Amino acid sequence: MAELKTTYMGLELRNPVMVASSGLTGNIEGVKKAEGAGAGAVVLKSIFEEQIDAEVAQITAQSWMPGHAEAFDYVHGMGYALTPVKYLDLVSQARDAVSIPVIASLNCISGKWWTDYAEKIEQAGAHGLELNISVMPSDPKRTSNDVEGIYYDIVESVKSRIKIPVAVKLGSCFTALGHTAGELSKRGADALVLFNRFYSLNIDIEKMEVTAGYPFSSSGDMSHTLRWVALLAGRIDADIAASTGIHDASDVVKLILAGAGVVEMASALYTKGMEHIETVLEGLQKWMDKHGLTSLDEFRGRLSQERADNPELYDRLQYIKAIVGLE
Ligand SMILES: Cc1cc2nc3c(=O)[nH]c(=O)nc-3n(C[C@H](O)[C@H](O)[C@H](O)COP(=O)(O)O)c2cc1C
Repeated sequence: MAELKTTYMGLELRNPVMVASSGLTGNIEGVKKAEGAGAGAVVLKSIFEEQIDAEVAQITAQSWMPGHAEAFDYVHGMGYALTPVKYLDLVSQARDAVSIPVIASLNCISGKWWTDYAEKIEQAGAHGLELNISVMPSDPKRTSNDVEGIYYDIVESVKSRIKIPVAVKLGSCFTALGHTAGELSKRGADALVLFNRFYSLNIDIEKMEVTAGYPFSSSGDMSHTLRWVALLAGRIDADIAASTGIHDASDVVKLILAGAGVVEMASALYTKGMEHIETVLEGLQKWMDKHGLTSLDEFRGRLSQERADNPELYDRLQYIKAIVGLE
């Protein structure tokens, strides 16, 4: 029988299927359900920098981030959001309630002042911390260096404060993603989560209002993640967690072949139920058995760019094949 055990950021996981940060892991029942369904680890719902801001009342002027004050008001008014103190309770209760690794999550847009809170998360017993850094590169006055600098500052300041492993969850909007990924790992990121799925925006043309789009991904949304996992695997000094569009066992197989250490799932578990993890794990094991594979390491990264016969042609070749094949 194929063995699904793996390690992620030095943590021992019984399998590579993690529940992504979301409402599914925003309370202790959800965390227990994830463990019961077979998850290898959970990432707790994020606490937002603005929530910590509200608690400690250390509101720094982020004058060039126009959304910041508005976001602060929003989370301040969210009755249902966990307060920073309650979030620490969730971390410690989850740690006690389950035997799988519990990774806390912090959604942030700036560094330094709130990093005290990262220490509190560590003290509360989190096995690791995932930083969801949500800096939109939309300000015409900010260069790519400015934006990347914020990521580096955050990682360096958090890493200087805590010893538990730190993952950085990022979007794909970077001028030179390969370089940024390498720099994040040099600055201490133990893993990169590729990619965060920014909420989709829509417009109600009758009310002439901006609205939120459909919140869930579909399997087709995985292609961007798959490409970047394949391009970066083995070329940066950090583990890779794949996120976005992972819906079934074949998606997990593809991402591990591309070089992912683990996968994080949210949408598929919202739409099919947490029990879907069991189906995914069964499918993964069945595929491994069929191909005579006994461990994940035997095939992880086999189809990454780094291990391709012609690494320099890897992406280009697929592109040419696809385009030429269509004509
Ligand atoms: C309802 C919902 C809530 C989410 N909340 C968070 C969150 O608090 N923090 C975070 O980092 N990601 C959050 N995400 C993003 C997921 O962790 C994940 O990265 C994204 O949904 C892509 O994965 P998927 O295609 O499996 O859904 C949320 C996603 C959904 C659908």
